[in-house]
Amino acid sequence: MRIVYLNPSGQIGGAEAALLDVIASLGKAEPDWKLELVVSDDGPLAAKAKALGVLITVLPFPNSLAQIGDAAAGGLAGNNLRGRRLLRQLIFGSPATAVYVSKLRKLLRQRHPDVIHTNGFKMHVLGAMAKPPGVPLIWHIHDYVQSRPFIASVMRLLSRRCTMALVNSNSVKRDVAQAFVGLQTQTVYNAIDTRVFCPCGDRLDLDSLSGLQAAEPGTIRIGMLATFARWKGHETFMRALSLLTPDLSWRGYIIGGALYQTHGSQYSLADLKSISQRLGISSRVGFTGFIEEPAAAMRSLDVLVHASTQPEPFGLVIAEAMACGRAVIVSEAGGALELIQAGINALGHTPGDAAQLAEHITRLGSDPQLRARLGAAGRATAEQRFDRTRLATELVPIYRRLAGVA
Ligand code: GLC
Repeated sequence: MRIVYLNPSGQIGGAEAALLDVIASLGKAEPDWKLELVVSDDGPLAAKAKALGVLITVLPFPNSLAQIGDAAAGGLAGNNLRGRRLLRQLIFGSPATAVYVSKLRKLLRQRHPDVIHTNGFKMHVLGAMAKPPGVPLIWHIHDYVQSRPFIASVMRLLSRRCTMALVNSNSVKRDVAQAFVGLQTQTVYNAIDTRVFCPCGDRLDLDSLSGLQAAEPGTIRIGMLATFARWKGHETFMRALSLLTPDLSWRGYIIGGALYQTHGSQYSLADLKSISQRLGISSRVGFTGFIEEPAAAMRSLDVLVHASTQPEPFGLVIAEAMACGRAVIVSEAGGALELIQAGINALGHTPGDAAQLAEHITRLGSDPQLRARLGAAGRATAEQRFDRTRLATELVPIYRRLAGVA
C-alpha cells in the first residue's frame, strides 16, 4: 500500500499535528506500507514526518497560491462576487496554478499511490485537480466548509473527484453533508500520543519564557495554547482574566504564535500585548511564543482555557490537555462539545462569554480538589477515546477498501 499525503503548509497547526498522529499510528500498525508526504515548504512538519520514516517531497507554492488564506478567503466571501471570481481565477485561470498542478500531477503519476489523502483546503482543491484518473482521493476535512464559501464553491465543483471525506467530528460531518450532497463522509476523531501528553513529565518555567519575574508560590497558572487566529478567542480569555476576583493570586499565559502566512485573519503579538495593556493586566500575562513541547507547557498550568468564539471543529488542545490531566474549560460549540462531558471531565462556557469564563476560572482557582477531579477524569477519557493507536484501527480498513485490497 502506498499512500501519498498532501499538506498545504509546512508549519504544524492542528491539522498537521493530527496528520502526524495518523502517520505515526499507521507506521506502527503497518510498517510495510509506504507513506509519502508532499508539502509546500520545508518546515517543521517535513522534519517531523521524516523522523517517522516518511518520504518527503517539497513542492513550493507559487506566491499567488501561498497568499490565499483559507480563513481570509472565508472573510472575503459573504456576497462578494468579485472576490469569488478572483479566487476562481486564481485557481482555474492562473498560469502559476496550472504549472503547479501539472508538476503535482507528474509527481503523483511517478509515485503510483494506491490512495491520495489531502489535508487542508488548498490541497483538497489542488489534489483533486492533479489526481491521476482512477486513484481514490480522500479529503481529510478539519474545518467547517460552509464558513469558507469561496473554497466551498470551488471544492463543490471538484467534489466528484473525491472518493470520500474524513472529518474530525460529527459537527463537521453535518456541515460537509450539507455542502457536498452525496459525498461519502466518515468521522474519525483525532487522537494523540497519550504517552507524551500525560500528567507526568517535564514542566517549563513559563515565567522566564515570557520574560516575567518568578511568580510567588501558590499562584494559579491559567493558560491558553493556540495559534493566533482571531476566532481562537484570546481577547475573551484576557477579558475573563481582567474580571477575576482580586483575592485570587493568578498569572495568565498565552502560549503559541502567529503561524500562518496570511494576514488579517490572525492577531500579531503586538495586537495581543496591546489588548492586555488596555485591560490593565499586562504585568500578570506572559507571552511565551511558540513552544516546541506543548505537553510540558500544559503540565505547567493549573487551568487550560479553550476560548474559541466560533464553533471549534474538534479542538486538539482540549484532548491534549485532558490527557495531561489538567482542568480544562471548553468553549461549548461545534465538535468540541463531542469531546467533553461538562462538569465531569471539563467545565464548559458559552463562546465569547468572558464573565462566565471568569467565574469558572475563579472556581477552579480556589478549589484544588475540583481541579484534580476534572484532571483525573480528563486523563481517563483521553486514554479511552483519544489514544492514537485507534487511528490505524479505523483507517486501515478504509484505505484497503478504497484501494480494493483485501
Ligand atoms: C483544525 C480545527 C481544529 C482541529 C484541528 C485538527 O485546526 O480548526 O478544531 O482540532 O484541525 O483536526
